[in-house]
Parts: sequence; C-alpha cells; structure tokens
Amino acid sequence: MKAPFEIEWLGGVAEKHFRRLRPATAALPWGTLEPERYPARLVERARNTWTQIAISEYRAAMSFAEMLRLLLEVRAPLDLVGMAGDFVADEVSHVEIASRIAMELGGGVSIDIDTSAMLEPLSNEAHPLQRTNDRMLVTAIHETFSESNAIGTMRASRHPLLRSALEQIARDEARHTRIGWLYFDWATELIDDGERARLAGVALGCIEELATVWQARTSVAKEGVTSEGFLVEHVHELGFLDSESFVARSRACIARDIVPPLAERGIVVDATRLAGVLR
Ligand SMILES: [Fe+2]
Ligand SMILES: [Fe+2]
Repeated sequence: MKAPFEIEWLGGVAEKHFRRLRPATAALPWGTLEPERYPARLVERARNTWTQIAISEYRAAMSFAEMLRLLLEVRAPLDLVGMAGDFVADEVSHVEIASRIAMELGGGVSIDIDTSAMLEPLSNEAHPLQRTNDRMLVTAIHETFSESNAIGTMRASRHPLLRSALEQIARDEARHTRIGWLYFDWATELIDDGERARLAGVALGCIEELATVWQARTSVAKEGVTSEGFLVEHVHELGFLDSESFVARSRACIARDIVPPLAERGIVVDATRLAGVLR
C-alpha cells in the first residue's frame, strides 16, 4: 500500500546503539546549509532530489536485508554474509543523512511509496541460487552506479556539509560494490553457462533501466549557467551534478566499471544492445 515516505526516529537506547555503530553521521557539519543563498526554484528541486536519494537509500537497505537472508539460504561463506549485514546499517545511515539534508533545505517533499513493492520481485519458482544470483547482480550494478555518482558529486561540491556527507556515502558505496563481485567469484563453480547467459540478460535489463535515468537529463550548461538558468556552482553546492557531467559519468561507469567485471565472471552482455544504450 502506498503511503507518504516519512522517517521515524526512536531516540534513547536505539539511537545510542546506532550511533555507536555509525558515529560519523553525527559528526558531520550540520546546520551549515543556508537555503536562502540559492534561488527558491533550485532549493525546491534539491529538496525533491534529496528526498528521492533518501528513498533510494531506503531501497538499498531493503536490498541488502533481502540479500542477507538469501546468502544464508544458499550457505554462502560466513564472512560474505557478515559484510551484507554490516551494509544494511550503512544504507540506513545514508537514509538518515539524505533526510537530514532535505530537512536543512526546508523539509523533504511528500512522495508516496509502497515499501512492499520497492524491490524487483524475485521469482518464487526459481532455485534459491538463481534468486541469490539475481539479487547479487542487480546490487553489484546499482551499487557501482551509485558509487560513481556519489564520487562525482562529492568532487564537484564545494559546500562543507554536502561534500563531507557525500564523501562518507561514497566511501561506504565503494565497499558495497565489492560484495557482488566477491559473490560471483565464490559462486563460479555453482553457476553453469546457461545461468550465466540468463544473468547477462538480467544485467542488460538493469543497465537499460539505469539509462532511462541519464537519458531524462537534457539540461545543457553554458558559461557556468545551466539551460534552466541556475549557476552550475550552485547546482554542485546543493549536491547534484550538472546534466552533462552526470551523463558522461554514468556512461563511463557502465562501460568501464560494470560491463568488464561482469565479463570477467563470464556474464557477457549483448554488445549491440549495449552500444545502443551507451550511444
Ligand atoms: Fe547508500
Ligand atoms: Fe550502497
């Protein structure tokens, strides 16, 4: 059922325990964003973007939680399972960071979400190993994509809060990207050629879906001003990349950081369809 995306915080014992696990969030320079320095339209857009980021971090937490159960089900190595458990807490702390940034900009915008339908459903018919393969593959692709964009945005932003918040997120995402590749290295003996070919199709579908994100970005910047009339410097300060940098970075990430490591593990995506996506 759809309901507005809202974050609850219990405080007390729960907060104390969580802060002990992830102390860096509280140490970020909160209270330094001054929304009145930017055009109201841009602040509105940033509030929307940071609310969307909080939602996708929430989805990432769910994804790692589901992965955790699947890894236990297929009796994956214990240390790999432990990594997935740790990453749930990382993603929850990213939800907190993104929500607090939206609050500093004037509050999150109201977006309805259905938490029961946030993740792509895994087929109940499939063997547990196939379901795990699907979850690991999609996570490896999504985490690599978010790491690349978090790094790009972090480098572009000159604002102390946004820069340090993105630095923390990017550092965590860099660790998250590894779990999928480590899993496929471990599972290589368990996966046959037919399954690898099926996974190549799943990977391509996932890449095509990501492409719709960057293909929707059409704004062009000229002499430091975007086609919507915002200073590129302001766009970067508020924590998002200008469209040109975002599109270039996204394409490079797919071609350099996602397709080759998949191929190294025998998951070879169709070159013609891929060229169409990256065009
Ligand atoms: Fe994250
Ligand atoms: Fe992540």
